[in-house]
Amino acid sequence: MRIRGCIFDLDGVIVDTARYHYLAWKKLATILNIEFTEENNERLKGVSRMASLDIILEIGNRVCDEKTREEYASLKNKWYLDYINRMMPDEILPGSLEFISELKYSGIKVALGSASRNTPLILERLGIGSLFDGIADGNIVSKAKPDPEVFLTAAKMIAVPPEECIVFEDAVAGVEAALKAGMRCVGIGSEKTLKDANVVVSGLDKLNLRKLKVLAKKL
Ligand code: BG6
Ligand code: MG
Repeated sequence: MRIRGCIFDLDGVIVDTARYHYLAWKKLATILNIEFTEENNERLKGVSRMASLDIILEIGNRVCDEKTREEYASLKNKWYLDYINRMMPDEILPGSLEFISELKYSGIKVALGSASRNTPLILERLGIGSLFDGIADGNIVSKAKPDPEVFLTAAKMIAVPPEECIVFEDAVAGVEAALKAGMRCVGIGSEKTLKDANVVVSGLDKLNLRKLKVLAKKL
């Protein structure tokens, strides 16, 4: 395939915010007396804030009205923001900046495709907002992953057709969204979890443009 656009998920690909999401959800679960494990947390990766809350309520066998759900979600976000507001650029995952800069330098468009409504704040904390040619996030899309909307929006922003885009994703829901968008997907994490990705690497530090082109021949 010809690679003209690369679309990156944010949480778990460029920065490891999954830990902070987990700690904040865990705090809520503890207050609600719901047992929530790190293993349960895998199901939350890539899905929206409200969908994450619904998974936790389902684990605890609880049903809530809309107002209570909103209250729980905003409490969790408040605790999550306490972590994000203390985040520093050294939390950018290894190899991310080098890889993205190399892609840009070689004329490939780069975009962000994240479910998070906190994307602008995270990019500001990390000082990397200007690196992207397009930013599609939870503030501008209405359908969360595994719906392809966020990646299709990102592709439009960089004016590259889906078949010439590669998505980099660490979540099962995100891999599904990328494939539904008609894009190829490089899974970031373990092959066991990201079975449907076209290829899987453990992190962006394992990639450079030359290696990506070799992988792309197999895509
Ligand atoms: C995704 C995370 O990137 O963003 C999910 O993987 C999270 O765990 C989702 O629920 C929404 O994030 P936020 O910041 O809008 O609550
Ligand atoms: Mg992610």
